[in-house]
Amino acid sequence: PEAILKKLKNFVLKGMLPSDTDDLLLANGLKYNVIVKHGDKISVEDTFGDNNDFTCFIPFDEKNPKDGLLWVNHEYMNSLFVSGYNYRNPGATKTKEQVDKEIYSVGGTIVRIKEENGQWKVVENDPYNKRITAHTPIKLNWDVPIAGKNTAIGTLSNCSGGITPWNTFLTCEENYDSCFGEIKYDENNNRSRIASQYGWEKFYNRPPEHYGWVVEIDPKDGSAQKHIALGRFAHECCTLYELDDKRVVAYTGDDKNSEHLYKFISSKPGSLKEGTLYVADTINGKWLALDWSTQPLLKEKFKDQTEVLVRAREASKILKATELNRPEDIEIDPVTGHVFVSLTNNKPKNDFHGSILKIEETNGEYDALTFKASTYMAGGEENGFSCPDNLAFDMSGNLWITTDMSGSVMNREDKPYMPFKNNSLFVIPRYGKDAGKIIRVASAPIDAELTGPWFSPDGKSLFLSVQHPGEQTKDLQNPTSTWPFDVDNIPKSSVVAITGDLIEKMNKLQEIEA
Ligand code: FEO
Ligand code: CA
Ligand code: CA
Ligand code: CA
Repeated sequence: PEAILKKLKNFVLKGMLPSDTDDLLLANGLKYNVIVKHGDKISVEDTFGDNNDFTCFIPFDEKNPKDGLLWVNHEYMNSLFVSGYNYRNPGATKTKEQVDKEIYSVGGTIVRIKEENGQWKVVENDPYNKRITAHTPIKLNWDVPIAGKNTAIGTLSNCSGGITPWNTFLTCEENYDSCFGEIKYDENNNRSRIASQYGWEKFYNRPPEHYGWVVEIDPKDGSAQKHIALGRFAHECCTLYELDDKRVVAYTGDDKNSEHLYKFISSKPGSLKEGTLYVADTINGKWLALDWSTQPLLKEKFKDQTEVLVRAREASKILKATELNRPEDIEIDPVTGHVFVSLTNNKPKNDFHGSILKIEETNGEYDALTFKASTYMAGGEENGFSCPDNLAFDMSGNLWITTDMSGSVMNREDKPYMPFKNNSLFVIPRYGKDAGKIIRVASAPIDAELTGPWFSPDGKSLFLSVQHPGEQTKDLQNPTSTWPFDVDNIPKSSVVAITGDLIEKMNKLQEIEA
């Protein structure tokens, strides 16, 4: 231990410079292997979906952190890679066959993975391996039908997520309007439909109200339910905290310009149905109840609580909740207990680089109805990062951050983003010489975003999604990226496992301070 401590004291985390190389580059002391990529067979019937995002892992046995079930979100799809549909071709129309392929490629995957000789691998054809798609029937966990039904067909736009204290996966439906469109109301409350980007509604008439929810997946059999009580909006993630009496608090943000931050407090142990949904007023530090029965302003506009939840955005605006700069991932600091929220950017309001918001609940109680909000760290050239998105704390409380400048730096034309080059993974060490600094430790391939960071239960492996490499490809003969350098040269979103000395050292840094 003396010798180890001495080595640690001299440990300097060597960060990386911004890069525009078409590869997944890692800082010294890190290495990776690809676990699974788009199109890989996971079972006799099923293949791995496109654009993998959130990952999380539950071991079969707490004593063996190297064998368990990995959940992976498939947020959206690139039709060029999935169905061959190219909207750039003049007069292109999508066939039902193409839509069916697209519907299959989103949702999520459950796959059994194991670590052997330092490499994480899929257990092929394991009975647990399964796809959930935009075609899977999913129960709506609510006593009143939603758009006349108790079951929705499919989950989609699954961006980030979380895990429950009872070991199930949470997957969050974010930009759902791109698939089956959205509903709109005029001043007389007449409902009309806005068309989607993908045009799936031309072949499948599904109510937009069935999407935009937090979805819970049982890893053992893949059964799923949508939690209406948590409201309907572009949920980025859902982060749970279990109170002493086993009630739960769920934090979740709406990733859209000038939308809101929410928290649900359950009234019964382990329930994501019974309880109250609140929306944040960060100026006055108040959680405002989205409760039809106690809020006269909501009673005036909506007919019941179900309508308040389905139209949560409008309800939040009525209560004058604070408009935020696209709340993305949320994590609870395991050391201080503070809640961190990525605010990725808000270009119409001239916030190009975003920031990380810190929420301190009053007296550190997660069911408090008041809190203090402050900026923990701002993006921009001074701090060397832009557009924070996913967050993950490791076992020692170091904060890992991914960035998403997608659609900006990706087009190679948006000036504010040019100095940052490719999207990256950063870490803010809690201890040691670099404590509090933000340091780049991985750089993504061309057009890609690094998403879904999740640590294995022993803290030694970091699961990470490399999402949408080569997204700007216009023609398959000439892709903008070829990562992960597959035989066909087609770029493929993949989940990797990152391991190495650097992660192990980061997990021991507090020993220096002790
Ligand atoms: Fe899908 Fe908000 O990132
Ligand atoms: Ca995200
Ligand atoms: Ca996270
Ligand atoms: Ca994002």
